[in-house]
Amino acid sequence: MASPGPKRVPIPKNGVDYRGKVVLAPMVRSGELPSRLLALKYGADLVWGPETIDRAIIGTTRRLNPNTFTIEFSRLPTSKIQNPTLDPSNRESVIYRIHPELEHKRLIYQIGTANPGLAVQAAKIVAADVAGIDVNAGCPKPFSTAGGMGAALLKTPDLLCSILRKLVEEIGKEYEIGISVKIRLLEKSEDTEALVRKLVATGITGLTVHCRTTPMRPRERVIRQQLRMVGDVCREAGVACIMNGDVTSRTEALQLIKEYNVDAAMIATEAEKNPSCFRPDAEGGPDEWKSMWKTVVTEYMRLALQVENRWGNTKYLLNQMIPGKETYHAAMTRCKCYADVIKALDLQDVEGMMDQARVVDERLGIPPKESRASKRARVNEAKAEVPAKKEKHKSQPNEQHSVKRVKLPEPSTDAPIILQDVPATAALSV
Ligand SMILES: Cc1cc2nc3c(=O)[nH]c(=O)nc-3n(C[C@H](O)[C@H](O)[C@H](O)COP(=O)(O)O)c2cc1C
Repeated sequence: MASPGPKRVPIPKNGVDYRGKVVLAPMVRSGELPSRLLALKYGADLVWGPETIDRAIIGTTRRLNPNTFTIEFSRLPTSKIQNPTLDPSNRESVIYRIHPELEHKRLIYQIGTANPGLAVQAAKIVAADVAGIDVNAGCPKPFSTAGGMGAALLKTPDLLCSILRKLVEEIGKEYEIGISVKIRLLEKSEDTEALVRKLVATGITGLTVHCRTTPMRPRERVIRQQLRMVGDVCREAGVACIMNGDVTSRTEALQLIKEYNVDAAMIATEAEKNPSCFRPDAEGGPDEWKSMWKTVVTEYMRLALQVENRWGNTKYLLNQMIPGKETYHAAMTRCKCYADVIKALDLQDVEGMMDQARVVDERLGIPPKESRASKRARVNEAKAEVPAKKEKHKSQPNEQHSVKRVKLPEPSTDAPIILQDVPATAALSV
């Protein structure tokens, strides 16, 4: 009689098996839609979206954008609802954008959360459009850990497990997608092992381990001594183990998967500047960026225009992808809109690109018609009126003020997508 194969947790109908995959890591800012599409184009098997905090996605409206064929989850920031004069255009913020066709069965949504109820509420909004929900339990930045999210969850394993169990029960089963978690290493191998044993018993289908401890800086070399053990514990439970940290190409990823007996590998920093790192050797390997960065950048521009990506994000990514020593780099930094950058990069002759850039600039309202000085003056004037209104509220104690609010930090380079002044539940109030 044939011996039974290794144990494997079943992969839900609308989910994906992470085994054998080389995937794009979740990256705030660097993991927006055009970056994910470019990674897929160059051969990434799956893509993780940027961490999005539960409270940021809760309250968004889902719409199909007829111009771009993308699904957008958007809403007005609370500050604009309270005080529309801050931005008379009342433009909604797109919190999350998905390409339903190109990302079908290949997109994992990563959530930032420290509350099982909010996690489920947030996951329900996107669950039908993605192949999996991943919980971020590895972000060491204060904006995340201060709310008990990210790497802080490594210190509250019972809370982390209760978040995962609730997601498995109420999202995984309901929408037939996988639930997974991304962690960092703990200092002691036995502590990491105890944590991983708890996590794999929650019903998750995958676990990513970033092979650095919480205090380690991104530039410090990863430590892989615990990796084989983490892989073994996952395998015993039938959960796929994805390794992460200092992986720079598909070829290297496949070698490391074999060496450490894990199931998959995830690439972040290298993919930020060189999305062609996912390309199989047979198709030219990862070196396109080094010799032909302009081909990669042209492809990126095509996608950014196609999905009408936020201009600030496009510029940020161009800054990563165009080598600093190139004269094009300096020219790009001076651009104020898509038409500018097409010209600065000498892409006017690429068919249709300049026309498309003008259309997208018009739709996005860039460059802004109002000068910075005039906007600053108008916003200051509008803000000056707010305290007077607050005073008025104080004198009317019977009005409804049940929703607590927190002032969230301004998103920095790798701060997760959050909105200023979003409503907070009691558990997350500060
Ligand atoms: C710009 C940037 C943004 C990141 N954002 C996230 C995030 O949203 N969620 C997350 O779990 N990790 C995030 N990370 C960490 C990466 O996913 C990854 O774990 C880390 O960079 C190690 O992989 P690497 O050595 O390939 O860079 C981010 C990293 C970078 C560089």
